Amino acid sequence: MNFNIAIDGPAGAGKSTTARIVADKLKMTYVDTGAMYRAITLLTIRHNKTNPEDVIKLASEAKIDFKENRIYLNGEDVTDEIRNLAVTEKVSKIAAIPEVRAALTKLQRQIAKNGGVVMDGRDIGTTVLPDAKYKFYLTASVKERACRRYNELISKGYKVTFKQVEKDIIDRDYQDKKRDFSPMAIADDAIIIDTTGKTIDEVVDEIIGCIKKGEGSVL
Ligand code: CDP
Ligand code: CDP
Repeated sequence: MNFNIAIDGPAGAGKSTTARIVADKLKMTYVDTGAMYRAITLLTIRHNKTNPEDVIKLASEAKIDFKENRIYLNGEDVTDEIRNLAVTEKVSKIAAIPEVRAALTKLQRQIAKNGGVVMDGRDIGTTVLPDAKYKFYLTASVKERACRRYNELISKGYKVTFKQVEKDIIDRDYQDKKRDFSPMAIADDAIIIDTTGKTIDEVVDEIIGCIKKGEGSVL
């Protein structure tokens, strides 16, 4: 496929799981933009930098690559480390800095310039790829999103409480929607899918169904 697909929505809506499967089925490349913001956040934590000027410098010098669904920061595989709680708690603050967004948006557009990309995030359909052929906005109730994320973290051995996870989700929803520059938003031409109570397969089928319809069922 030479078109791009944008998948946006809040934490725990099922974007990355669904986007990865859709990309596999359509033989497209999956790009996780949240992982890019997380990688820059990890870098700022490692350098103990919080002031925006220092953060912007780190972001502008950082080299981010994807290889086989793993993310590399300056050559190091940081796929697992970027999911830790310290990163999760700070990422929305780092992602609100306009210059950080500008640097990552540029990189995201470069990756998608030849099409064939399924990209998930918060501002893909609105800002990063406004010309994406298909745009989806996934959502689900806060309770369900918190439950999914809690179960995921517990199964990976993280020691968290449900309340902590729910609070993080509510806080990030707020910060991501309220930031001035490129906030989380539903594109006017996005298809909204409420995934509450739906399995991953059901959501994947819904997305593939919309694309098949749009492509005249040539898939
Ligand atoms: O996986 P989870 O849904 O928890 O979050 P993520 O997709 O890894 O994104 C982490 C954070 O990065 C979000 O809460 C946003 O603050 C930021 N982000 C963003 O601002 N713009 C994007 N396109 C993607 C992520
Ligand atoms: O990327 P995002 O934060 O939107 O969500 P995700 O990381 O894809 O999904 C969060 C968790 O919910 C994962 O453990 C998924 O397996 C699970 N999930 C689910 O149980 N049902 C869905 N319809 C979608 C995701």
